[in-house]
Amino acid sequence: MRVFEIASEAVPFAKTGGLADVTGALPEALAGLGCDVSLVMPAYGEVFSKGLTIEPTGIEFEVPIGARAPLARILRCRRPGSRIDVYLVANNELYDRPTLYGGSHDYADNAERYIFFSRAAVELACRLGGRWDILHCHDWQTGLVPAYQKLLYGSHAAVAAARTVMTIHNMAYQGLFWHWDMLLTGLDWRYFNWQQMEFYSQLNLLKTGIVFADAISTVSPTYAREIQSAPGGCGLEGLLSSRSDALTGIVNGIDTVVWDPATDPHIPRPYGSDDVDAGKYAARVALAARLGRAAPDSRPLVAFVGRLVEQKGVELVLEVLGRMAGSGSAHFVILGTGNPEYERQLQRAAATFPGTVDLMVGFDEGLAHLVQAAADITLVPSRFEPCGLTQLYAQRYGSIPVVRATGGLVDTVVDTTPETLRDGTATGFVFEGFDAAGLDAALSRAIEAHADKPLWTRLVRHVMRQDWSWGTSAREYLRLFERTLASAPAPVE
Ligand code: ADP
Ligand code: GLC
Repeated sequence: MRVFEIASEAVPFAKTGGLADVTGALPEALAGLGCDVSLVMPAYGEVFSKGLTIEPTGIEFEVPIGARAPLARILRCRRPGSRIDVYLVANNELYDRPTLYGGSHDYADNAERYIFFSRAAVELACRLGGRWDILHCHDWQTGLVPAYQKLLYGSHAAVAAARTVMTIHNMAYQGLFWHWDMLLTGLDWRYFNWQQMEFYSQLNLLKTGIVFADAISTVSPTYAREIQSAPGGCGLEGLLSSRSDALTGIVNGIDTVVWDPATDPHIPRPYGSDDVDAGKYAARVALAARLGRAAPDSRPLVAFVGRLVEQKGVELVLEVLGRMAGSGSAHFVILGTGNPEYERQLQRAAATFPGTVDLMVGFDEGLAHLVQAAADITLVPSRFEPCGLTQLYAQRYGSIPVVRATGGLVDTVVDTTPETLRDGTATGFVFEGFDAAGLDAALSRAIEAHADKPLWTRLVRHVMRQDWSWGTSAREYLRLFERTLASAPAPVE
């Protein structure tokens, strides 16, 4: 099975969120199952600062984008020990920028940047030759790939018989642009209609991917159900339910080498489930030093690591901080970056409760590992969550997740009740409605359980033994690829 993974970010090259974790690890897991996998992503400025050996391939071509035809230069990187060829599409004008997608505002030319990338990816698949079985696209940035494969490259031997799979990591980001950007795609205006590329007079790249892909997947079974109705489908629920036969939910795995408390270079004292207390204590000493404190706090450490955006339930965290920080029953550590208004409100909470609420603004991979290692409890109170990886990392690091019952959080966390404690399935604390009272109650239950040392130790050992490695999920992707290859392509009209 020859698979081309096409994504806008992947670790260790460039990352803004969980998408990069998935596109970094899934190709390796598929290769482990015998697939011949390559990955293509844009050559952002930051990919050159990771100490990786990146070489030119000599492949370069112009990509028609409206009236222009910018040059795509193809670079290649193969990491030591990896079987994956990673191709990087270089064009400095489009990709050599301080951040991937923009700051508090998206870059004004994001349509051009990802139309260019999607077309370059299909062109590259052709130039690399041979025959591809699967073009695996991730999120709106690659939404045009299935359309290009069917409408422009149908006669190219390398991709003609390939099938396209569109994986949705988040329905809230669809790649919506004004209708004139249709001109940049090079596709006929007749596809700009409400059943294909148009969404209320705008060009919708994710919709295009969903319409033209041969198979659609998303990153958990519960989210696959949620997006077939409002509000989960974010306006595309009708389309998604009309394609429900082609839609699968496959829960994400995690990279158990990168996220391993027993070998993690970002933590001071690696640990396993037998010496978790010693490992966590050392991590807390190191974290205290990062926070400018002489000694760690002895209260339960409640962590939040994530993008500070509406999706993640930051307002619930803010409300609960107001209620609980006053009681001093826990120490809160928040690592995140995003919406400046959330950052300001969290700064205010930290200033109101010094020593009880600590905020670290920024995106820092090493610090994310350290915080998970130091934490007793990790909050994931999301409004919606396609899969979520932080609750899986938390489990592996022996931090008990407190999550809202939505999307992948439903599929990966089992609430602690007398029954689930008895049958040994409890892995966290779950609340239903999106309200601060729910979070407050679930977190209070967690803090109470933390005070019961034998119970907590049992819970921590149990969550650390959960297997969230990619094995099972990669096999599901492989089965999806095999099924898709064996069926007829999605019709174009
Ligand atoms: P999403 O992709 O919606 O942001 P996930 O839970 O799937 O949510 O993945 C988030 C990823 O981003 C995790 O690897 C998490 O550790 C990382 N992350 C989020 N915020 C930060 C931050 N401020 N610093 C470092 N890593 C972060
Ligand atoms: C998205 C989702 C997150 C998911 C990640 C990787 O960013 O918000 O829930 O885990 O993609 O699939």
